[in-house]
Order: sequence, then structure tokens, then C-alpha cells
Amino acid sequence: MACASGVGAGGVAARVPARRPRAGRVGRRTAVRCAVAPAETGSATSLGWGKTESGFWNQDGYVMVDGQRVADVARGIKESPFYLYSKKQILSNYQQYEDALKGIKSIPCYAVKANNNFHILKMLAARGAGAVLVSGNELKAAVRAGFDPTRTVFNGNGKMVHELQLAVEYGMLINCDSEFDLAHIASAARAAGKPARVLIRINPDVDPQVHPYVSTGTANSKFGIRNSHLSWFLDAITEDPMLQMEGVHCHLGSTIQKVDIFRDATVLMAEFIREIRAAGLPVNYFNIGGGLGINYMRDGLDKYPTPDEMLACVRAEIEGLGVTVILEPGRSMIANAGMFVSKVTGVKTNGNKNFIVVDGSMSELIRPSLYDTYQHIELTEPAGGPVSKYDVVGPVCESADFLGKDRELQAPAEGSTLVVYDAGAYCMSMASNYNMKFKPAEYWVDENGAIEKIRMEENLEDSYFSMFEC
Ligand code: LLP
Repeated sequence: MACASGVGAGGVAARVPARRPRAGRVGRRTAVRCAVAPAETGSATSLGWGKTESGFWNQDGYVMVDGQRVADVARGIKESPFYLYSKKQILSNYQQYEDALKGIKSIPCYAVKANNNFHILKMLAARGAGAVLVSGNELKAAVRAGFDPTRTVFNGNGKMVHELQLAVEYGMLINCDSEFDLAHIASAARAAGKPARVLIRINPDVDPQVHPYVSTGTANSKFGIRNSHLSWFLDAITEDPMLQMEGVHCHLGSTIQKVDIFRDATVLMAEFIREIRAAGLPVNYFNIGGGLGINYMRDGLDKYPTPDEMLACVRAEIEGLGVTVILEPGRSMIANAGMFVSKVTGVKTNGNKNFIVVDGSMSELIRPSLYDTYQHIELTEPAGGPVSKYDVVGPVCESADFLGKDRELQAPAEGSTLVVYDAGAYCMSMASNYNMKFKPAEYWVDENGAIEKIRMEENLEDSYFSMFEC
């Protein structure tokens, strides 16, 4: 360890208040910045899509983050479990979108729902990203993080009038999702005293070929307008001076693996754009949504498309449209830049099944239980001994509490650490307090290799007792 003292644990710096100040107590502890000693780097390449020099990979049995051993990083952090991000990988993912969009009038909008860490938001805002928001709180966080509100989109099928009013006041683009939603947008515009900038969310009815819970672009989805009713929306917008038509939006779903799907949707959306223009309304923006998948299998195969491949697929169709293109990536911006680090509590066998029990659980990382999805799991360093099949489970009182099933691993020692890869998106942002587990701390490795705490862990006093009069 490069330094013995720091905030919280040896070798880490803090970008958060040391403890949330309670009533009558103010102040921040001075942040101490020092890096965990970098491990030797070899010739390893990242196994995620994008093949960058940053991020997470396995090198000779050691899980690495930006060239440091995660086991060493974990030894310097007192809390467990915790999230660990690579700042460089997030920036590299964002850069891939910027590069892919070169030559296209466009706004890459980060989907805040994927990961709302305030330091990550501030960093992306400073880079010039736009943002996609789905609640009044996301909206307020994005504004405070410094996103240019005119480059943000307020989305959703149940936006409330007070939230819409804020969006109008800030000059955000607002997706219209239904007849009642348009009425709410109009009353919000009246309350704000200025016109609302409207995108119509159209459902192109293209099957994204993903898990039904993350499929949104088909006719049976709860999102988007009734397409057969489009002319009703166009008339309503034309008649109301407080509704300013700006363009169209579609979002097909998440974890999409085939870029052809985006081309199919773009061809259909181009038809809608022509129809809207023929009706005399402008279409300045075409929002293609997000949804690009990543390689959760970490199998090293290049079967997952990059932003470049996605854009290459739709570029020709877009170029003729004369619109500003909006993309809404969440997962592909942040998932491979994060991992979830847990400590082993014990190893047990029940009949034919082996279990590695860790302190992380479905409360902090629900994707495997909710979608039966795969996220790659590895011990942070070799444990020695033979490999067996294990279910990796948490301490939560529920059989759905697993992080991975039937994983081939060595038997880890108690107290050693294990990681779930690709936990940057939809993991911390979907965490709960089930079983009174409190949300873990978040750290990142900065561009100089220093480990910084970028979100405090919740605790019993602030996250529970303080909510009651006791
Ligand atoms: N735009 C809209 C309108 C969306 O609904 C979403 C995600 C995105 C953009 C970002 O999509 P992405 O690029 O991240 O795929 N909890 C699920 C994912 C839910 C996605 C919801 N909508 C999961 O853990 O897989």
C-alpha cells in the first residue's frame, strides 16, 4: 500500500463527506489523495467490447482495474461490499460515442437511470454529454451536475405535471407518450408560461430480440403513442401554441446485440418523419434511443456491436433526413466500467450443490435474480486448489438471492474478495434496502490511478433511525 493513512481506509481519497452531517453538525473532512501502488502491468487486453487499455480484465488469475490488482484495492477499503469504477473506461466509452457520431449533427445523451453517481454525472456533463431523465429527481440531479438542460430529454410514460413544469422551465426536450401525457405537457407549459419542446415517442414495432422486461419498442409495450393515432397528436400540437413540435423519439429496448435492428427502426422512423413533415410540422430531432448491448459473458468474442458499428448501420438513412440525431446510451456507456466487489463469508455444500456465500446480495445487485441474467464472476486473486461448480449467493433471506449460478471457481478463503463484472449499469441504481442492507459505497480509479471514494455507504443511523422520531 502506497500510503497508510487516508479517509476511511489506507490508500484512498474521499470525494464525499466523511459522514453525512447530522443536524447541527457541519463540515467535511479534508480529502487525502494517494494511490494504491499499481501492480505490474503485462500485455493483457480488456475482454469487454471496445478493447481499450482501461477497465477491468483478468491477468494471470488476478482481476485488474486500470492495471492495478483489485485484491490490493479491496485490502485498502474497509467497507464491504462496494462498487468500483474506472473513470478512464467511462471516458473511453463516451469517446467511442463521440467518435462514432463524427460528421453527424447529434447529441449523445447519457441515460442517468443506468448509474446516477453524482461525480459520474458531473464528469459527463463537463465532457459535453446530454442526459436522458425519467423522473423529477433525475432532472434536478442532472441540472445540478451541470448538464445543459436544452441538451436533455425528459422521458417516461407517467411524468407528473410538476415534473413537466420544471422540464419546460429548463427548456428540456420532452417526450410525449400518450394523449393524457400531451395534455399534462400542455398544462405544464401554461403553468411555466412558455412553450414546451415536444418529441413524439413512436413505437416502430420492431422486435429488439431481448428479455421481455427490457423490450420496449413493440406494439404491446406500455411506452409510446398509438401510432394509428399519430394525426390526432399532430393536430393537437398544431392547434396549441404552447406545444412546440421538435421531433420524434423511439427506444426499442435494452441489451440489443444486432445492429440491423436499429437500421430497421430507422427506416420506419424515417417514414414517420416524412409523414409529419407532409402534415406541415417540423422535425428537428430524431432520437433513436439507447439499447446497445455489451458482452456480459466476457468470452472475448467480438460478437457485440460497438457504437461505431451501430452508427455505420443507420448513417446513410439519417444523412438524408436533415435532423439532429439524439442517442440515449446507458448500459454501453457505463456497465463495463464498474464492478461489484464482495467478501467471502464462507463456503458450504448442501447435497450436490456447492455455495460460496458472500456479503453482497440481490439487495445491491438484483439483475441476476430479476432477469435471470449472467454477469461474469471471478475471485480477485488465485485461491489455489481444484476448481468446482458453485452458486455464488448472498446472505438475504430468499432463494432468489444469487449473483451467479453454476460458476467454475476455486474454493475461496473466508475474507477473500470476489467480483461481479460489468456492474456499472443498473446495479447500484437498482439497489434496495431489502433485509435492511444499506447501499454500499462507490469508489473509482481516477486517471492517475488513485482510488477515490465517490459515494458514501448508507448506514443504520442516517438511512433508518433518522427516518423515525426515535
Ligand atoms: N432511453 C430510454 C427511453 C430507455 O427506456 C432506456 C432504458 C435507455 C434509453 C437506456 O438504455 P440502455 O442503453 O441502457 O440499454 N434494468 C434493466 C435495463 C432497463 C432499461 C430501461 N430503459 C437491466 O438491468 O438490464
